[in-house]
Amino acid sequence: MPVTAEHTVTVQNLLTAFEGESNANAKYTRFAVRADADGLHGAASLFRAAARAEQIHAANHARVIKQLGGEARCEIHAVEVKTTLENLHTALGGELYEVDTMYPGFLEEATAHNNTSAMRTFTFALEAEKTHARLYGEAIALLEAGKKDSWIGTAKDFFVCPVCGYTSETPEEHDRCPVCNCPWAKFEVIR
Ligand SMILES: [Fe+2]
Ligand SMILES: [Fe+2]
Repeated sequence: MPVTAEHTVTVQNLLTAFEGESNANAKYTRFAVRADADGLHGAASLFRAAARAEQIHAANHARVIKQLGGEARCEIHAVEVKTTLENLHTALGGELYEVDTMYPGFLEEATAHNNTSAMRTFTFALEAEKTHARLYGEAIALLEAGKKDSWIGTAKDFFVCPVCGYTSETPEEHDRCPVCNCPWAKFEVIR
C-alpha cells in the first residue's frame, strides 16, 4: 500500500523523527563510553538510559510509518565525541529542539489530519524527551559545579518505560507511567 496524499507530510515527519531518534541512539551510546572513560559513570548510565528510550521512539515511529505505507530507513551519521560536558550540552540541545520545536510541529500536523497513530507516537516521544532534557540539565549543573561526588560520578539505575521511553531516576515513582499508563513494574532498569 503506497502512502496516500493525505498522509504524505505525516510520513515525511515520521521519517525525520525516525532519523533523529536513530541518530540520538547512536550518539548517546558513544557518549556513554566517553563518560565512563571520564569517570562520570552516572552520566554514562543516563546516556545509556536515554539511548534505550530513543530506540523505543524509533521503533514506535517505524511501526506507524509502516502502517501508513512507508518504509522506515535512515542514514546514521558519524558521531563527534567531545568531552562529557560538551556531549551533555549537545544532548540537551537536541532534546530541547525536539521538545520545543520538532515534536510540537509534527504533533500539530498529525492532529490536523486526525492521524491518531502518529499523534500517539509523537506525544510519547515529546513527553519522554522532556524527562531527558531535565536529567541532562541536572547533570550539566552538577558537572559545571565540579560535583563529581554526586550521582553523575557513580553508575546508577535509571527506569525506562518500554512503551513510551519515559525516563526516571527514581524507582517506583508512580504505579503507572505518567505518559502512557504502562505499569511501572514493566519498566526497564538501565544502568
Ligand atoms: Fe531523548
Ligand atoms: Fe510510558
